[in-house]
Amino acid sequence: MSELTATSISPVGPYFSPLVQGYWRLDDWQMTPQQRLSFLKAHIDLGITTVDHADIYGDYRCESLFGQALKLDPSVRQKIQVVSKCDIKLVSEAAPTRKINHYDTSYRHIIQSVDNSLSRIGVERLDVLLLHRPDALMDADEVAEAFTTLRHHGKVKHLGVSNFSPSQFDLLQSRLDESLVTNQVEINPLRFDVIHDGTLDQLQRLRIKPMAWSCLAGGELFNGDSAQATRVRETLQVIADELGATIDQVIYAWVMRLPSAPLPIIGSGNIERVKSAINARSLTLSREQWYRIWVASKGHNVP
Ligand SMILES: NC(=O)c1ccc[n+]([C@@H]2O[C@H](COP(=O)([O-])OP(=O)(O)OC[C@H]3O[C@@H](n4cnc5c(N)ncnc54)[C@H](OP(=O)(O)O)[C@@H]3O)[C@@H](O)[C@H]2O)c1
Repeated sequence: MSELTATSISPVGPYFSPLVQGYWRLDDWQMTPQQRLSFLKAHIDLGITTVDHADIYGDYRCESLFGQALKLDPSVRQKIQVVSKCDIKLVSEAAPTRKINHYDTSYRHIIQSVDNSLSRIGVERLDVLLLHRPDALMDADEVAEAFTTLRHHGKVKHLGVSNFSPSQFDLLQSRLDESLVTNQVEINPLRFDVIHDGTLDQLQRLRIKPMAWSCLAGGELFNGDSAQATRVRETLQVIADELGATIDQVIYAWVMRLPSAPLPIIGSGNIERVKSAINARSLTLSREQWYRIWVASKGHNVP
């Protein structure tokens, strides 16, 4: 039975699980289709029902790998909320004429990319489509037109963004009839610019929950040997000992302590690590504990 209760990520929805399972690394997990399905069902049973994808993950392979698993038990579709992204164009065998990685938020590319994602995942609709990275050539009217078309055809329910600055968010929102529902950003004790550059302030003001990517800094918090990673790891361990928790749990608790109420996206394909992330919800860091991690990261006291 699930211990997690779904939460509305913005005043207009949708409802997501409070932690999200990321599928960026799915290709690395080396699972059979049946193992992928078992992993998906296992995290759903734990209450993690929202899954995060992007067209480009695994060099355009991860959505298909996930779709193969879903096909083995189509009833699972009703239990999940699917997020995917578009706008990054990677140099890839999948696009032999492309010479350089770049961004594309044109009407044509957004429509085509969503059609490809739907067909690879094997679903009729994305619950949320995110623009993956800010595009210097983004024409907000054109994005709005693409979203209107996708919504009209029932292919995308909500639109959000990822890695957008507050002004980029405002610009796009100014051209949309519907509210953007999230900004998916990097938040971890090594990299947390969004805490100070207005990104999370904007989301808190709008009562929109961020989705937090790479909360564990992609593993760097466990194995990084920079002075910063070493300082932070030592501090995390001391606080973990104080709380009777593990380092990963302290990191998730540090992210979830933010008042904009971020939804951590879990990057691991190891179900025990997924359970550990869920258990971090029972931890509450004191202000002093939270700031000890901040200080360890910055390498100096608060001003
Ligand atoms: N919007 C964006 O621009 C963007 C960018 C990056 C990621 N994302 C999303 O965010 C999700 C999470 O990102 P992420 O994968 O970078 O998350 P993460 O949780 O920071 O990193 C996951 C990595 O850390 C390793 N790890 C976890 N616990 C560990 C431990 N105790 N000791 C050593 N290594 C450990 C995992 O290995 P194991 O698999 O072996 O556990 C995995 O390789 C992605 O799946 C994707 O959906 C979005």
